[in-house]
Amino acid sequence: MSEIEPFRLHVFVCTNKRDGKPACEDHGAKDALARAKAAVHALPPPQRAGVRLSQSGCLGRCDHGPVAVAYPQGEWISYGSAEELERFVLEAVAKPR
Ligand code: FES
Repeated sequence: MSEIEPFRLHVFVCTNKRDGKPACEDHGAKDALARAKAAVHALPPPQRAGVRLSQSGCLGRCDHGPVAVAYPQGEWISYGSAEELERFVLEAVAKPR
């Protein structure tokens, strides 16, 4: 049994690029991640406790990109804008665990 405390919410945002093939970073994924991180950091500490946003490599859903996934729920989003990713993250943060 691991002694490492799991995150309450861990969101992985693909920021991958692929040579000559569609990829999430083609749609500004790094900027969207930065915006979502800033939104979480702006929350009061009790609300953002145990929340982690991570840049990830390819999540294997390139045809739906840009994508992100939130664990432990395993909820995916194919977002159309940085604002949409931010909303997805803030809604996930607000859900009771
Ligand atoms: S490049 Fe983002 S899921 Fe593959």
